[in-house]
Amino acid sequence: MSRLIITGKRELHGEIPVQGAKNGVLPLMASSLLSHGVTVIDNCPDLTDVRAALDILRHLGCRAALEKGAVTVDASDVTCCEIPDALMRRMRSSVMFLGPLLARCGRAVITAPGGCELGPRPIDLHLAAMAALGADVREEDGSLVLTAGRLTGAPIRLALPSVGATENAMLAAAGAEGVTVITGAAREPEIRDLGALLTKMGVRVHGAGTSTVTVEGGVKAPFARHRALPDRIAAATYLCCAAAAGGELTLTNTDPDDLRPVLAALDRMGAALKTTGDTVTAAVHGPLRSPGTVVTGPHPGFPTDAQPLLMAAALRAEGTTAFVENIFENRFRHVPALRAMGADIAVEGRGALVRGGVPLHGARVEATDLRGGAALVAAALAAEGVTDLGGLAHIDRGYENLAGLLHSVGAGIERIDGKEPERWKTTEGRKTPAAREPAST
Ligand code: EPZ
Repeated sequence: MSRLIITGKRELHGEIPVQGAKNGVLPLMASSLLSHGVTVIDNCPDLTDVRAALDILRHLGCRAALEKGAVTVDASDVTCCEIPDALMRRMRSSVMFLGPLLARCGRAVITAPGGCELGPRPIDLHLAAMAALGADVREEDGSLVLTAGRLTGAPIRLALPSVGATENAMLAAAGAEGVTVITGAAREPEIRDLGALLTKMGVRVHGAGTSTVTVEGGVKAPFARHRALPDRIAAATYLCCAAAAGGELTLTNTDPDDLRPVLAALDRMGAALKTTGDTVTAAVHGPLRSPGTVVTGPHPGFPTDAQPLLMAAALRAEGTTAFVENIFENRFRHVPALRAMGADIAVEGRGALVRGGVPLHGARVEATDLRGGAALVAAALAAEGVTDLGGLAHIDRGYENLAGLLHSVGAGIERIDGKEPERWKTTEGRKTPAAREPAST
């Protein structure tokens, strides 16, 4: 059982290199199934979700490895078209293998994907896209069985701009015969990046990253190599940590253009921001002010994944900040833990009202999802005393070395892996975090 022990009220100073994008790398890895040769993806973070994707690829018969930040997949032999439930449940992106598997094998058998519990996360749009390309979709003994002699390009109209459904439709269309036009597509940067790799694989793709994507099927190149884009949510995480803790933090290997809505919110809060082509520096000295109302929406709107993080930063801002969550029904699961740290937050339906400037204190809390867990880290950096954070399996799905990187810029953060040391136990049970020795930094 791993935990983070975080001593708050220490400013962050220095530089953090931003990892490659989790949500970019996973569909890139799925695209490797379309090739009868080798695909290499550089700038790949070592995450449990990436390891789950490697396990799926190996189960399907590919040779797949992550070494020194590069994933290499040899998909010359795909020997299986069924992903067992235990692999499907390890992450949401397991569903991303549906389109390429169906295109490659003419059959795909899956179950419901796992992932963060953020409210209902149906896959109806993914299945409708496969049906539009000619697949027969049935449920048999709790599994979804999709078959298609050969997928054929067709118009696909997405009822809402789902990121995953857009990617899955592009992947299936890349392996289909003929031209597919996806309208109502999501415009997230990760989709632009998927289009870039598919293009390197010889597929003709136009408009990836806009609301109309055209894909002319046919993977021609036996080898493709691509560098995954920087993780905009990991970048937002470190910026919100800097806002919460104060100090001056520079992020390298990042793309300020993809961070615009987050940078705009931090600017309204009074952070001094400087950007170059691939760096962002945030200086936060003195009090922050509320950014006003923050409304999440599909890209280029404010990203839902950054909402819990900005909420943590807003806790130390003067004034009231309103959050409106428009993407997922249940994305305020971090609020009870923030309240346990002293935060004043009222939640009603899809809205949350944060009264900032209330002193925070350390507490023993648990992460309940990936970004909510990272938000607890940011809040702990602003809190007086020691926070003891568990539920790290959620955080490990999306962040490579979060604690080590924050520690390197001055945060009081230490990761305890394995059994809890005896010295932390009292005869009555566990000591409260506040009573513990401060974590060494
Ligand atoms: C991706 O999830 C990301 N995950 C999420 O990041 C992110 O929050 C989300 O996009 C929105 O930006 C990955 O890329 C792996 P959606 P995805 O399909 O693709 C509804 C993180 O923390 N919907 O765009 O699953 C759905 O219920 C994760 O890194 C349907 O109704 O999101 C939601 O309300 C969490 N039917 C909305 O669309 C469908 O078939 C947007 O979901 C599909 C989606």
